[in-house]
Amino acid sequence: MGFNDIESKEESIPHVVLIQGSLSPTSKTAIVLEKIKEQLLDRNVKVTILDLRDLNMEFCDGRPLRDYNDDIKAAHRLLSQADGYVIGMPVYMYSVSGPLKNFLDIVSGAMQDKFAGLVCMSGGVRSYLAAEDLINILSFEVNVTTVQPIVHAYGADFQNDELSNPKVLEKIDAMIERLLKFL
Ligand SMILES: Cc1cc2nc3c(=O)[nH]c(=O)nc-3n(C[C@H](O)[C@H](O)[C@H](O)COP(=O)(O)O)c2cc1C
Repeated sequence: MGFNDIESKEESIPHVVLIQGSLSPTSKTAIVLEKIKEQLLDRNVKVTILDLRDLNMEFCDGRPLRDYNDDIKAAHRLLSQADGYVIGMPVYMYSVSGPLKNFLDIVSGAMQDKFAGLVCMSGGVRSYLAAEDLINILSFEVNVTTVQPIVHAYGADFQNDELSNPKVLEKIDAMIERLLKFL
């Protein structure tokens, strides 16, 4: 797996890992995370995109971390070294998509006590409350604090594969500002 490592110019600045949780080749979550990456880089934050499409994924079956493949162990290491996260969550069946949940089942221990912004990507305009499941999972399991506002987007917010709704862009800005206050 080649992490999309983008170093900012200075050291001693926050490092944010963006977890792109969709496996779709035409993922809208990925489009939004690219936008967030640009905005973080403009603020001179160190950014790494961890795109699950690039990961040699395994199913979580309860084995210890050392028995997973090198990709999974590298992802765990990357998450443990980060200061904060933005998690891109596709909504499947009004909840966290299976692949993202499986990934978190394996590696969430690396995220203990840190902060995260959320991107909730759905097909329907009313599905944003599905993010509540991710907030609960992260809070109960590893005491990750999620910041508000959550960035929610759905199909109509895009035109020609670009995020076009200015209200979503405003939410991205507000989410980043809030997240960076904690890092
Ligand atoms: C198996 C499956 C279940 C889905 N369930 C929901 C749902 O419950 N509510 C909803 O609004 N959209 C649902 N969707 C639509 C996705 O949330 C939507 O396609 C979104 O863009 C997925 O993110 P992605 O484009 O990054 O893959 C579902 C899609 C799939 C494939």
